[in-house]
Amino acid sequence: MIDIKNILRQMGVIVGLFAVLVPVAQVRAQEPSRDQFPDDFMWGVASAAYQVEGAWQADDKGESKWDFFTNTIGVTQFTIGEKQTANVTINQYDREQYLKDIQLIKELGINTYRFSIPWSRIIPQGAGEVNPKAIAHYHLLIEDLKEAGIEPLVTLYHFDLPLALLQKGGWLNRESVQWYKNYAKVIFENFGNEVSHFITFNEPYIEFFVADFLMNPTQSQESASVRYATEMDNVHHQLLASAEAIKLYHEMGLNGQIGITFNLSPCLPFDTENQGDVEAVSLQDDLLNRIMLDPVFKGKYPDKALTAIQKYNPDFHPSEQDMQFILDNQPDFLGINFYAPALVKKDDAAPLGVSWMGNNTDAVKMANGPARPEELYNLLIRIKREYGDPEIIITENGASFENGEDKVVDGNVNDTLRTEYLLRHIAAAEKAVEDGVKLKGYCVWSGWDNFEWIFGYSVRFGLIHVDFDTQLRTPKSSYYWYQSFLNKQ
Ligand code: BGC
Repeated sequence: MIDIKNILRQMGVIVGLFAVLVPVAQVRAQEPSRDQFPDDFMWGVASAAYQVEGAWQADDKGESKWDFFTNTIGVTQFTIGEKQTANVTINQYDREQYLKDIQLIKELGINTYRFSIPWSRIIPQGAGEVNPKAIAHYHLLIEDLKEAGIEPLVTLYHFDLPLALLQKGGWLNRESVQWYKNYAKVIFENFGNEVSHFITFNEPYIEFFVADFLMNPTQSQESASVRYATEMDNVHHQLLASAEAIKLYHEMGLNGQIGITFNLSPCLPFDTENQGDVEAVSLQDDLLNRIMLDPVFKGKYPDKALTAIQKYNPDFHPSEQDMQFILDNQPDFLGINFYAPALVKKDDAAPLGVSWMGNNTDAVKMANGPARPEELYNLLIRIKREYGDPEIIITENGASFENGEDKVVDGNVNDTLRTEYLLRHIAAAEKAVEDGVKLKGYCVWSGWDNFEWIFGYSVRFGLIHVDFDTQLRTPKSSYYWYQSFLNKQ
């Protein structure tokens, strides 16, 4: 039986309760230098619409699956014991508010802002009528960003399917490929000449194998495995939809680039002395990393993962035609969200017999796993060597620690652990650039504290602290460190 609370507790999400306060004894890595990166490198911060916009019913917006999960089902009740929604969150749909936020990131010195456009604003029912108010809103936002010298990096889909489409089967329904293609067409027709970089999807893995999965607890290892394996149909349809959008984008002859973003985590044994853990690593790597990378860059799903999935979902047999289509329509760049490696356990109670979430040996725990900057370097080198040396943008990298460092004290937020984390990860990226990785950009997750999906407002990732009651913004010390890194001559 899967105990959500237990998994979340293991994941370090019930922050504070069992926190052990240990002083930072990490050796400070050598400060990275902006000069070591290409002149046209994209330096940014990232966000996603549902997490920052609020205004969930403004300007004729339709309901999204996350509006429904939070308002109707109340998913955060299972995880943090309280019903929370992003109906207001940090109020960034409001122009008065977002102009102030743009000013803050302009002062930070970035040249790129990664944000997502919610499908349910553009086409409220998912398919059919386009909403002119939403189109006008994003034209203005893009114009405002450019005026501040900041280029938009736009994600078309960041977990927020229109509810009307979920009611028609969502991503399990193969028609979803066509629904998405129509939505992408509207986006390209309206914004294709103003935006130079698009991302088709954010982290199919997290949407299906983590978030959706945890929200639908199942009763036994067997039924959890069936559920897990069935999610693979969702993933396959998203990869097809992404390939359709990439094809369309290229056919339209637009000038920019289009990519897809995966969360990737190098897999390491939890206990190097334990034979079971050591052997579980390759299956977990297949299920977590290669399951996305191999179809996109090699045109096939990895063997071990496929066998494990077909055991519980015997109908999952994607056609050669599908696989060829995905391979033929490769992204122009690979977006990588990197937080932490996965410490893998052989785990007979977990779906498919392996687990990684919640396995963390660090004294002060990060919400997304153990802090290991060298694993970002290793990952970038692996992608270069094994996946044809693609152009890469780190579309998310950031941290939230359980030690309570995100408190405003006398008007300051002294987030030394996050600062150290960013410094060390940017230094790892710098080393990868030196070693020939075609890294084109780096975005911190996140610009602002915001609504963290099933964990609501209980974890904070921002460079800028947000008081969720008053909307007051307070730049943290990590903001000032990033600012000095970006502005050093
Ligand atoms: C997602 C973000 C999320 C972040 C921090 C990524 O999985 O793309 O939306 O907030 O991680 O957990």
